[in-house]
Amino acid sequence: MSKEQIAEKQYDLVIIGAGPGGYHSAVRAAQYGARVALIEKNKLGGTCLNRGCIPTKALLASAHYIEKLQDAEEFGVELKGYTADFSKVVDRKNKIVNELGMGIANLQKSWKNDIYIGHGKILGGSADAGFKVLIQGESSEEIILGRRIILATGSTPALIPNFNVDHERILTSDDILNPNFKTVPKRLLIIGAGVIGCEFANIFAEFGSEVTLLEYLPSPIATEEPIIIKQLQKKFEAMGIKIFTSQNVLSVKNTGSGIKATTCSASVPRDEIENAETSVFEADICLVSIGRNKVSNELGLEELGIGTNRGAIEVDPGTLETSVKGIYAIGDVTGGIMLAHVASYEGDVAVANALSSVGICKNHSKKANYRVIPSTIFTSPNIGSVGLRRKQAKDLGIDVLLGQFPYESLGKAKCMGEKGLLIILADKHTTQIVGASCIGEGASELIAEIALAMQNGLSVEDITGTVHSHPTLSEMVLEAAEAIVGRAIHKKGRPITPRLRDILMEQFPHGIEYESE
Ligand code: FAD
Ligand code: NAI
Repeated sequence: MSKEQIAEKQYDLVIIGAGPGGYHSAVRAAQYGARVALIEKNKLGGTCLNRGCIPTKALLASAHYIEKLQDAEEFGVELKGYTADFSKVVDRKNKIVNELGMGIANLQKSWKNDIYIGHGKILGGSADAGFKVLIQGESSEEIILGRRIILATGSTPALIPNFNVDHERILTSDDILNPNFKTVPKRLLIIGAGVIGCEFANIFAEFGSEVTLLEYLPSPIATEEPIIIKQLQKKFEAMGIKIFTSQNVLSVKNTGSGIKATTCSASVPRDEIENAETSVFEADICLVSIGRNKVSNELGLEELGIGTNRGAIEVDPGTLETSVKGIYAIGDVTGGIMLAHVASYEGDVAVANALSSVGICKNHSKKANYRVIPSTIFTSPNIGSVGLRRKQAKDLGIDVLLGQFPYESLGKAKCMGEKGLLIILADKHTTQIVGASCIGEGASELIAEIALAMQNGLSVEDITGTVHSHPTLSEMVLEAAEAIVGRAIHKKGRPITPRLRDILMEQFPHGIEYESE
């Protein structure tokens, strides 16, 4: 088909990329009554379903099973031994991914959205005339017209030439999550102790790998609360996972029988690296997990004049519209918070704005707001966070009250044999909840309650005034909130300072009574 030909199929909204940003947007747009085309060059579900969230969590579920089995005796259960078959673990993971993939296809069908498999590229157009989009499939080409466009093309693993990723021994998360990767390496070296690095370290250590993490920064998962990081480090140490921080990895090589990574201290200035003292780390397999590159090439952006910054498509931070009216971008490709639920949330915002602008829905325009974004690191135990960390609050000049509660003091957690802690931060002047961090079983779920509280501007008193069912892990939230005002029932008393009492008396209209200091 000639690119000059008139597009036959016309849509209210054309979405390029069917990850959690794109496929979610497609369903949302159909719910508003829009005619939708969803273009995907690979598999529906994007990184999240095929090479990210879901397959890692499926592997982690099996790893967690092993961890539980190891504790069986403590629970009075005598096992006559067990074996883990990683090949079957991977088969289970693949089955979950395939089933969910089919689910997405069925969802789109049920909303009567058209799915195109092929590479999407905007050929040109305008908000008034609509935009022509070329779809290049394996053996055919097609042009469709969209009144509005959403770019949701995601990200891929970041690569450094010196790391020589060969997809044989030096791998990315895409390789490890490939349906055919069924090996448990004896020694696994992971470069980058961020979210991906820590999740895979946990998984493979449970399956018996000797895991070593190399991290450039002085700390793994550096954006989390220091006390939470310490707890994870302690757990990893107990599992035999070694973490080397402040390591500048200079090169990684496949030696034929294994891999060899050379590092120097991250404190060595760039122009002195050549003469720096180096260390060598050897392993069977190396995983490179040092961040993500945005997929913004071959979309026709340059021709349209849409700006990018190191690959990230530039958008208005509120409306998510690019510099070209009528074209929006969401998810990883914008270089913001690279999480599946953020991509979906941004989809809601972009869809509402795009469809409002063509009159499909009226007065539905939205502005993105990132104040309350929960996130989880799916190690075992989980780490869940939402809102501010203590340092961020300090940097923003927000005085906070802190409530902390350990799992070990909670009946339900004790029955489950779980350890960890939950921290809640509240604004000292309003007692509104401004953040929370948790490490422990169900942390990912516990912070959902805090997210709801934050989203609705609730205060410490709103949480402490809510009855929580017993015995449940949700009581962690109640106790940590009560700890903020020195009232946690299952925590040893501590004297309330006169200053704190003054603040609390002022903020709690129903009053808090303390007999004496
Ligand atoms: P993607 O999911 O990357 O989807 C983009 C899609 O666009 C892809 O399918 C791609 O093939 C397609 N595409 C690209 N260019 C074109 C084109 N020109 N034409 C047609 N199609 C195109 N996040 C969480 O919230 N929780 C987790 O537990 C979690 N775990 C993760 C684990 C790993 C190992 C990784 C790598 C990531 C994880 N993430 C997690 C992050 C999450 O996967 C991403 O934030 C999310 O997938 C981003 O969604 P997206 O829709 O923006 O992009
Ligand atoms: P990341 O940004 O979380 O971690 C990368 C780590 O590698 C950082 O600690 C960084 O300091 C380190 N690093 C960078 N270059 C290095 C070098 N040359 N040598 C040594 N260390 C180096 O990125 P990651 O882990 O690749 O994950 C990518 C994205 O995927 C994240 O932004 C995350 O949001 C998302 N993700 C989310 C998950 C979740 O929500 N549970 C799970 C996995 C990924």
